[in-house]
Amino acid sequence: MINLRGKDILDGAQFTREEVDHIMAVADEMRARLRDRHSLDLMTGYVLATLFFEPSTRTRLSFEAAMHRLGGGVIGFSSAESSSTAKGETLADTIRTVDQYADIIAMRHPQIGSAREAAAVAEAPILNGGDGAGQHPTQALLDLFTIRQERGQVDGTTIALVGDLKNGRTVHAGVEIYKHYRCKLIMVAPEQLRMPADLVTKLRSYGVEVEETADLEGALAKADVLYMTRIQKERFADPVEYERLKNSYILTREMVERLQPNVTVLHPLPRVNEIATDVDSLPGAGYFRQVKNGVYVRMALIALVMGKI
Ligand code: NCD
Repeated sequence: MINLRGKDILDGAQFTREEVDHIMAVADEMRARLRDRHSLDLMTGYVLATLFFEPSTRTRLSFEAAMHRLGGGVIGFSSAESSSTAKGETLADTIRTVDQYADIIAMRHPQIGSAREAAAVAEAPILNGGDGAGQHPTQALLDLFTIRQERGQVDGTTIALVGDLKNGRTVHAGVEIYKHYRCKLIMVAPEQLRMPADLVTKLRSYGVEVEETADLEGALAKADVLYMTRIQKERFADPVEYERLKNSYILTREMVERLQPNVTVLHPLPRVNEIATDVDSLPGAGYFRQVKNGVYVRMALIALVMGKI
């Protein structure tokens, strides 16, 4: 019996396979229920707070769309500058305050561990929408939902993760979820931006087949899913280093057509240069369908942690 009621959603490692499968099934149900209507009334009268101390387009707006589609209300702020953080308020005090207003809190903050810190003081469940270079579990779940939709199943797929694997929180959370599905992981990164070694060791000890390489074309030729990521400019201490690495990998239409025409291309977005725009019209370019899935998966998570489904 899966029960996520009252739980915080903090990282990818917290989930069992059964829980992930359940979230996927509930997200399917949300999509089906929205097919013939604009909103549901599962969360009528409840309030979601979205506290975004870092820039966001998709994560914040899809959380808010999800709550509206569930029939609930939304409050929040979209920059630290427009909140009392600018006056020197601590995260703990901000969270204690919002806890008086809202039933559930989605947040994004530049500090690793910030969502866990918030969860320690909040009554309301905390949904981590990104804690610095740490974790981004709701994105990882919508990525999995998209792989399942685009490929028909997740078990046994070969997923190439490309780009800034050192700082990318979506891939840090993602691998913790893919490990339940016997996926083969090809990690494609420049030397300086490799996946943290402790995470790779952990995956291998779990029995996951992991290949590390710097060669995008070689990985593409073997991949079912190519998961591109942005080089995380805001995490670089040295702007020169960022300039040197920013165009490490650029996927072109020619590469896909030559090496793996059936590949599914995903990206959490925003993209900078990682995917040429002429890839967008290929049938396997799934990144805007991935965006839409964010609403269904976040609806599922809100309804589940609030015990409404
Ligand atoms: C990602 C993030 O913020 O970590 N975006 C997202 O949530 N869809 C990826 C990124 O910013 O590169």
